[in-house]
Amino acid sequence: MHMPLFSIFVVAALFISLCNSFLFKGQHVICNVYPKDLYVEEDSSVEIVCQTSCSNHGKIFWTLNGKNINESLSKTINATHTVLSLRNFTQSSAVVQCHSSYGNQLLGGVTIRTYSKPKNITCVLHYNVNGPNGVPKLFTCSWKHHMDFLQTANYTILTDSLKEICKSQVASCTHNCTHLVNPDDIVNYMYYSNLYTIKVRARTQYGETDSDPYVFDPRSITKINPPKNLKIIPSSEHLLVKWVTDEPRCQVKYYKTSEPDKAPEVLWTNRSDFSATIKEVESCINYNISVRCASERGLWSEWSPEKTALTKLNRSRIRMQLWRKVAELEKNGKRKVHLMWKGIPSTCREAFTVKQVAYKDNTITENYTYTSCGSSSCDVDVDHRSHRFYLAVSSNGALLDSVNVPAVGDMGLPEVWNIQTTKHRMGGVIQVSWNVSQKPISSYIIDWTHDGQQYYWKETIFTKATLFGLLLRTPYKITVTPLFNDITGHSIHTNPFCSSMGVPEHIFVTVEEADDKSAFVKWHTKSQYTCSNVDTYIIFYEAQGLQHNVSVSGSEDGVWLKDLKPNTHYNVKVEATSDNETDMSSTVYFRTNRFDPRLIKAVSICGGILVILVLSIGLTCAIQWKKFNDKPVPNPRLSSVAKWLTQSHEKVEGFFQPPTDQFENQVVTDKTQRNRGAPLTPVRNGNNCDPSFSSIRENEPEERFSDTSETQLLSSPEGSMVFSSSQSSPYRSQDMLPRVEKPSKSDLGNKQEKTSMKSLYISLNMFEQSDVR
Ligand SMILES: *[C@@H]1O[C@H](CO)[C@@H](O)[C@H](O)[C@H]1NC(C)=O
Ligand SMILES: *[C@@H]1O[C@H](CO)[C@@H](O)[C@H](O)[C@H]1NC(C)=O
Ligand SMILES: *[C@@H]1O[C@H](CO)[C@@H](O)[C@H](O)[C@H]1NC(C)=O
Ligand SMILES: *[C@@H]1O[C@H](CO)[C@@H](O)[C@H](O)[C@H]1NC(C)=O
Ligand SMILES: *[C@@H]1O[C@H](CO)[C@@H](O)[C@H](O)[C@H]1NC(C)=O
Ligand SMILES: *[C@@H]1O[C@H](CO)[C@@H](O)[C@H](O)[C@H]1NC(C)=O
Ligand SMILES: *[C@@H]1O[C@H](CO)[C@@H](O)[C@H](O)[C@H]1NC(C)=O
Ligand SMILES: *[C@@H]1O[C@H](CO)[C@@H](O)[C@H](O)[C@H]1NC(C)=O
Ligand SMILES: *[C@@H]1O[C@H](CO)[C@@H](O)[C@H](O)[C@H]1NC(C)=O
Ligand SMILES: *[C@@H]1O[C@H](CO)[C@@H](O)[C@H](O)[C@H]1NC(C)=O
Ligand SMILES: *[C@@H]1O[C@H](CO)[C@@H](O)[C@H](O)[C@H]1NC(C)=O
Ligand SMILES: *[C@@H]1O[C@H](CO)[C@@H](O)[C@H](O)[C@H]1NC(C)=O
Repeated sequence: MHMPLFSIFVVAALFISLCNSFLFKGQHVICNVYPKDLYVEEDSSVEIVCQTSCSNHGKIFWTLNGKNINESLSKTINATHTVLSLRNFTQSSAVVQCHSSYGNQLLGGVTIRTYSKPKNITCVLHYNVNGPNGVPKLFTCSWKHHMDFLQTANYTILTDSLKEICKSQVASCTHNCTHLVNPDDIVNYMYYSNLYTIKVRARTQYGETDSDPYVFDPRSITKINPPKNLKIIPSSEHLLVKWVTDEPRCQVKYYKTSEPDKAPEVLWTNRSDFSATIKEVESCINYNISVRCASERGLWSEWSPEKTALTKLNRSRIRMQLWRKVAELEKNGKRKVHLMWKGIPSTCREAFTVKQVAYKDNTITENYTYTSCGSSSCDVDVDHRSHRFYLAVSSNGALLDSVNVPAVGDMGLPEVWNIQTTKHRMGGVIQVSWNVSQKPISSYIIDWTHDGQQYYWKETIFTKATLFGLLLRTPYKITVTPLFNDITGHSIHTNPFCSSMGVPEHIFVTVEEADDKSAFVKWHTKSQYTCSNVDTYIIFYEAQGLQHNVSVSGSEDGVWLKDLKPNTHYNVKVEATSDNETDMSSTVYFRTNRFDPRLIKAVSICGGILVILVLSIGLTCAIQWKKFNDKPVPNPRLSSVAKWLTQSHEKVEGFFQPPTDQFENQVVTDKTQRNRGAPLTPVRNGNNCDPSFSSIRENEPEERFSDTSETQLLSSPEGSMVFSSSQSSPYRSQDMLPRVEKPSKSDLGNKQEKTSMKSLYISLNMFEQSDVR
């Protein structure tokens, strides 16, 4: 009974509560975010409300493009409303959403887009390039407009009364009324008004925005064209700049072209001067100069195109020095004077003149003579008298410096003596010192040269000087001249003195002699420098891995190496040292003899005596035997002659053995090696002094042929063979000395052929050798 009643009560209560919520709170149950689409100006603040009635549980939070927004920006007003305040919103487009943390429920969202106004407008009234100033023809404005990079905008410049001045699709716009004949043009009107207002309208695909109004004084935004006809007149004192304009305010900008990165100097000019003077300019320097001007209240014009100007030489702005070298008095009574100067910038284009005048007893005796000079030196002739030289700029005669040359043999002048040069620890540095006479001296000029062409000099008040930066290993000639105020005294000079010493670059070593236990090593040196010096030579020699050395003084050029091993190969090299430099020769090889050459000599002398003894005994016996036989002497004129034809030529070769190499067992030295290359001397085959013709090969020099043939003719005891191109036998006229024709180079090539053509005479049984000679 109770159950159905209870059920009915519960259903009724539910119905009532549902009706309550629908009937009385129906509009608040739905969650939402408003306003919906937002289009706001960039950098403005935005407030968004989230209606949260549908979700009474959980926390409300916001996201911007999916990222959580700091809670501090969100504020819960009452149970059903939460407000988000965003300040300085700059994103061009964003989605803001409202969430409930209860079941991570999305309650609603909004899209915010921003726009920006054109800002920072600047406008200029100006003129066409090269056009005349006056009423401006051009009006140009530019501005800034922040936009999404995908967005484009169309801009219009409008007057106060929304009249269009110009249109553009970029953030600047020019109104050009040059072509308009209408004098009532907007620019004309603008120029003559006191204040003028414009605004810039930007139209994008989302809408239209206007800039804030821009108010200006037209005269103050007028920009004239730069001045024209810039002229620069350089003088030795300054640069005068001139130009043409009709505006009162101008500025001159200038800088040295050598220092383009330095901030340029700017000069303000005086009203209506249309010229300016740049003072304190350096000598012979290029300056780039430009000018700009402005109307009374207007903007500065652009700088005029730069002009380059070279300043002139001014003596007071440089540190120059003039000096001279005087040669000895020549036979014609003249002295050559070489004038030279330094300190004048190489950029100077000035030409120079030397004005010279002779003095006698301190008075000018003659008119001046003028010589035009090169850029840094001048050569003039003077006689024995005292002279003064003035260096001047040719163009304007401005005096630069002067120097004098004393009279020959003037005893009243200051002098120096006892000049001494010393080497410095460092190479390329020479120290000079000198002593002074009692006469007053204000300073000294010390000059030096290594080639007699190029001189260097400096002034000092001390009696010594150090010359730096000299070429190494070069002899320098140094001169010291005392000065007393303007007067130069008598010079003194040193002999050429080396700026530094070094060892010679090349050492050539030879082994002159090699015995069994000693050898003589000799060397000589070669250097491209005159300033060469050797303190010590060290001779290194080595055999079978054992190294020895011996030192000798730098003045020696050879040494005997002692205590060597007989029949051993040695290598030897020589090292030269001086100060801290060394130089090593290349290695030379030699071999000691097996025996003491004196022993060999003694043995060979004994053997020779023995041989002579035996020979003379044999000869005596032979003479005795001949006398005993007393046979008639055969006459070669009566001997029969037969031709020995070529086929037997090889046989002839067979008689004569090629010479064996006698040098094989000799000591190999430089000398002997060289000897191998020398022309062969006749080679003896044992006792038989019979060189063979077949030993003459095609590649041997011609001389050998004649040498050997001569010897052969003179010393053959038993018989002789003669090759001759002449058909007549020398034996038919005994008074003629047989000759052998020298074969020419081409002959040698045809030797085989020639030989076959030649007749070969053989004389037999010739006892009387003296007849042949
Ligand atoms: C939220 O902003 C407050 C003050 O503006 C700041 O102190 C806090 O660190 C910020 N919280 C986060 C998570 O950035
Ligand atoms: C909550 O605040 C909003 C806005 O101020 C207001 O419209 C609404 O009536 C308030 N709701 C209640 C229940 O106070
Ligand atoms: C936000 O804008 C206000 C004025 O609109 C300005 O004073 C403030 O500096 C801006 N803040 C930032 C962070 O740009
Ligand atoms: C406006 O533009 C000028 C030059 O274009 C610039 O010097 C100035 O800082 C700009 N001002 C602002 C507020 O952007
Ligand atoms: C203005 O117009 C003239 C004639 O049409 C033209 O020669 C000149 O270049 C223009 N100036 C500018 C800045 O556009
Ligand atoms: C700008 O103007 C051009 C033609 O004058 C037009 O085609 C274009 O749609 C315009 N752009 C906007 C954003 O209004
Ligand atoms: C060099 O400049 C000085 C100072 O400016 C001036 O007085 C002098 O006349 C100039 N020298 C020459 C030779 O013009
Ligand atoms: C302007 O004039 C004054 C004297 O009238 C003169 O001292 C000054 O050097 C001049 N300035 C220039 C840049 O010429
Ligand atoms: C100086 O001006 C000349 C034009 O006269 C120009 O060619 C040169 O580049 C300028 N020098 C420097 C360093 O700007
Ligand atoms: C110097 O020159 C003048 C003319 O220029 C001449 O009359 C005079 O004789 C000359 N004097 C000497 C010493 O040469
Ligand atoms: C020694 O050698 C060094 C380096 O090569 C050099 O600077 C120095 O002048 C030399 N000294 C001498 C006395 O030659
Ligand atoms: C030269 O001067 C040196 C000192 O500088 C001195 O010792 C020497 O005696 C002088 N010689 C002569 C000859 O005066």
